[in-house]
Amino acid sequence: MRIIDIIIKKRDNQILSKEELEFVIRNYTNGTIPDYQMSSLLMAIYFNGMTKKEATDLAIAMRDSGDVFDLSAIEGLKVDKHSTGGVGDKVTLVLAPLMAAVGLKFAKMSGRGLGHTGGTLDKLESIENFKIELTEEDFVKQVNEINLAVIGQSKNITPADKLLYALRDVTGTVPSIPLIASSIMSKKLASGSDIICLDVKVGSGAFMQTIKEAEKLARLMVEIGALANKKVQAVLTNMDEPLGNNIGNSLEVIEAIETLNGEGPKDLETVTFTIGALLMEAANLAKGDEAIQLMKEKIATKEALNKLIEMVEKQGGNSAQIKNPDLFKKAPQIVAFKAEKNGYIEKMETEKIGLAAMVLGAGRAQKDDEIDHTVGLSFKKKIGAYVKKGDVIAEIHAQEKGVKEALTLLKEAIIIGNDKKTITLIEGIIK
Ligand code: URA
Repeated sequence: MRIIDIIIKKRDNQILSKEELEFVIRNYTNGTIPDYQMSSLLMAIYFNGMTKKEATDLAIAMRDSGDVFDLSAIEGLKVDKHSTGGVGDKVTLVLAPLMAAVGLKFAKMSGRGLGHTGGTLDKLESIENFKIELTEEDFVKQVNEINLAVIGQSKNITPADKLLYALRDVTGTVPSIPLIASSIMSKKLASGSDIICLDVKVGSGAFMQTIKEAEKLARLMVEIGALANKKVQAVLTNMDEPLGNNIGNSLEVIEAIETLNGEGPKDLETVTFTIGALLMEAANLAKGDEAIQLMKEKIATKEALNKLIEMVEKQGGNSAQIKNPDLFKKAPQIVAFKAEKNGYIEKMETEKIGLAAMVLGAGRAQKDDEIDHTVGLSFKKKIGAYVKKGDVIAEIHAQEKGVKEALTLLKEAIIIGNDKKTITLIEGIIK
């Protein structure tokens, strides 16, 4: 087999075989295929697309380029969720203890944030001494004992995806639906769970800006899952405003705790319950309203909150902070971002809001940047709210760094006008 023949085949819009895709991934990962030929193939895929079977074969070849988690030592059904990346997205922090409380196993490998979206690991590390590294043995033991663990990726998962993503980033080939779908699914197929719910974000703060595109991506990922023998479902959720009110690491953990105490924002609760109900349905535990009722009970009885406390204790963290969120370290100053005129909040450019949190130090511009767990934004008003000139729209929790820039970004991002707009939070479910 020769890479040049495979490039020509894709250039001419023909279908690549499983063997050809395996050849490409194996030889790109071991350095035999140079970047210039891989770039050419990626561009041909970008323009000519892939069939479902090709995207599945590509995802499986990428999965097999590295370690694959074997969670068979964990008894019971393992559930997982994945978000394509949002602003203020702390769903995992609420959903994981909820699923553990209803009796499912939540054994999750999470990632860090880059750019305007935050990562679950960074959020969890705002809890004092919380350890994100466990040995595989301790990870399995913990999930068997308390149904729950969230850790970082220690193994060499999908090295092909890491190399390909970096190349796509510099060759204009990131926004290709089959490449995104196979990239995300390769990691999910390597994570070892039985049931997966994908949260595909749509809107101004998301990868996919239109419902049509998001639906196409979600459908392809669900189909890849089915062809790879996993139960995968997807929910399309709106990202035209941040999810919940808080953005920034400890601020998001605090909001997740409030939600587990039954006092969280409605939108965060809705997305969490929607994903939770889909996971519970796929696990044949309960569905629809019955599943939501069960989750509400686990919140009312504090069983879900107690699961988070147990996880924090098992992973070495200070659970007193979960019991009393006032114990989280605070940023030295709070600066108000105020409305400049009367009217309704019509639009929030979510990506710019994520960037505002990033410039304060809540996120990373570069992979190795240090982050500050205390800084971020706390919104008092979102889309559809009426504000008078001088009303506080958001509080900026900050050090000295980035305040001016954050204020400018917020000013650009938040549009006040005469129309009272509403948001449809759940844009679709794909099973
Ligand atoms: N997230 C991924 O993991 N891969 C992509 O290609 C895009 C988003």
